[in-house]
Amino acid sequence: APDIPVADVQAHLAELQRIAAANGGNRAHGQPGYLAALEYLRSALDAAGFVTTLQEFEANGTGYNLIADWPGGDENAVMMFGGHADSVRVGPGINDNGSGSAGLLEVALAVAEQDLAPAKHLRFAWWGAEEIGLVGSTHYVESLPADELAKISGYLNFDMIGSPNAGYFVYSSSGQPDGSATFEQMLNDHYAAAGVPTEPIQIGGRSDHAAFADAGIPTGGVFTGAEGTKTPAQAEKWGGTAGDAFDPCYHSPCDTTDNIDATALDRNSDAIAAAVWTLTA
Ligand code: PHE
Ligand code: CA
Ligand code: ZN
Ligand code: ZN
Ligand code: ZN
Repeated sequence: APDIPVADVQAHLAELQRIAAANGGNRAHGQPGYLAALEYLRSALDAAGFVTTLQEFEANGTGYNLIADWPGGDENAVMMFGGHADSVRVGPGINDNGSGSAGLLEVALAVAEQDLAPAKHLRFAWWGAEEIGLVGSTHYVESLPADELAKISGYLNFDMIGSPNAGYFVYSSSGQPDGSATFEQMLNDHYAAAGVPTEPIQIGGRSDHAAFADAGIPTGGVFTGAEGTKTPAQAEKWGGTAGDAFDPCYHSPCDTTDNIDATALDRNSDAIAAAVWTLTA
């Protein structure tokens, strides 16, 4: 897998912040900044050769999922990678979830640059209306006919991957309805090779993997922490500040480009690339 240039991911974050600022300060569901941000993602994906689709849904206003298919691969074995593209209303949502959105975009562009020819079919997704109750991803899963759903081999979720006081959490497959031990192991092996210690986390239903897991599809993901507090032991192994939140600006106006740990963003963008290359091979 390629080494994803973090400067390119940061450039996407700067653009998402600029889009929010030009549209009332956010990228929230039902607000103009959401569609403007989706248009930014979509035009980059189209130019790179992805086949993109906007899936519309109603949820207290019109919402949109952006789906990007990379042509080729076995359509009966679809590997999906996604994260939510909406922010909360109070700010630009750069860590939550500009970070996952931008990392996924840059990995998709790397797929195109390298003209990846995976054995499986590769599909990326940017979900709408996560912040009002996982609405977009749930709509996507529920709107797929059973035979299409059966073709999805797995879904990996990236929601908050650049927290300023970062932890390195890998979604735990134990105690999760359809957590995938294979995905968890693959991600842990990747971080171990990069010299980054990880911890498993019971993520429950708090993000967009939930609808996939409920439908019996293997899921996984990574997360750098939200409102939870870093322990002294965690600060020892990861650096950062014990006693502070992983993301002190979680769901706050200060979730801006200043609210990003570039090292975490870089490592996790590289992990997305590793997962795409390994799990679609
Ligand atoms: N889904 C939460 C949000 O968007 C963030 C989160 C992700 C929290 C994963 C816990 C675990 O606000
Ligand atoms: Ca990198
Ligand atoms: Zn690039
Ligand atoms: Zn959020
Ligand atoms: Zn989120």
